[in-house]
Formats: sequence, structure tokens, C-alpha cells
Amino acid sequence: MYDNWEELEEAIKDCNKCKLCKGRTNIVFGTGNKEADLMFIGEGPGADEDAQGIPFVGKAGQLMNRAFEGLGIKREEVYIANIVKCRPPNNRDPEQDEAIACMDYLRNQVILVKPKVIVLLGRIALQNILGQEYGITASRGKIIEKKDITYIPTWHPAALLRDENKKIDFWNDLKLAKTRLQK
Ligand code: URA
Ligand code: SF4
Repeated sequence: MYDNWEELEEAIKDCNKCKLCKGRTNIVFGTGNKEADLMFIGEGPGADEDAQGIPFVGKAGQLMNRAFEGLGIKREEVYIANIVKCRPPNNRDPEQDEAIACMDYLRNQVILVKPKVIVLLGRIALQNILGQEYGITASRGKIIEKKDITYIPTWHPAALLRDENKKIDFWNDLKLAKTRLQK
């Protein structure tokens, strides 16, 4: 564990701890306010994120940005990261060994940011952070408290592109996250 961002960013720079290093263009480390009270954790970079080195800049990210705007959440005020920092080929799910190899970076990011609330975007984030026994359908919109952090699982924004009906849930879950910040 590193106690500052410079060392952590230096450590990840040429990472080859898992096989995803082979296909990446850029490592997508994370973005936003490094002292945020609210943090978002996604799954892994897609093509646009890989090309730019920034999380959630593609279609799903743009949809998330619109929800942020509607709810008065400023993207630059929150911190956004992913389970894996390198793009899985053909946008497949990250495999267990890859998520495990990458987890130390995310853990370190959480320790440095010290968020009050973490929104888990989709099943992959949920299961890798809270455990494989959690299902996204049953867990979304619920408050799960662990070690001084409030976790709120919700749909992955890409799921909203496939199913319009999930948008209202997503909106409500983000609203819940916002209200929890006031506590
Ligand atoms: N999907 C994710 O899970 N993360 C990103 O950064 C982009 C899309
Ligand atoms: Fe390293 Fe994570 Fe990229 Fe794997 S996904 S190579 S562990 S930074």
C-alpha cells in the first residue's frame, strides 16, 4: 500500500500483473476528486476508455454524466474508478484472476480517497468488492454498511442502454447515495 498518489500512480504505470496488460492502449487508472465523499466503481475500460485513458467516457459514461447533471452531481467532485484498469478483449467480463491481480490498486485508491459512500456499478463491481454471494438484482438500491463505508449497488450504466426501465432505478439509487452523503 502506498500512502500517496504519486507512488501509487508510479507503481501502476507499466503494470503487467495480469494478462490484460497485453491488449491495452492506456491504463485507465481513475479520475475525479481525490478527496471525494462519493466514489463510483465500474467494471473495466471499454474501447473509448482504453483509447483516452479515462473511465466512463463512452456511451455508458455519457448516460451516467446525464444522470449526474440531473441530480446535481458534479463529475469533477466525485471519484470514478474500475475493478480492472486495462480493457478486457471484446469487452468481455474481467476474469477472476484479473480482478484479483488488480484489486490492490483499487483498495489503495479507496484508502486514499476515503469516501463515505461508494456506488457499485453493476454485478462485477458488486461481487468483487462485497463478495460473490451478492446478486445485483436483489442488492441494487440497498444500503450495505461495511467498515465505515456505505455501499450502494446499482445497475451498470451500460445496462440502461439495453433496458430503458432500469433508468428510474439508477436515478433513485444515485439519489439515495446523495442523501447518504448528508449524514
Ligand atoms: N464501463 C465500465 O465499467 N467502466 C468504464 O470505465 C467504462 C464503461
Ligand atoms: Fe495491471 Fe490491473 Fe492492468 Fe492487470 S488490469 S495489467 S493488474 S493494471
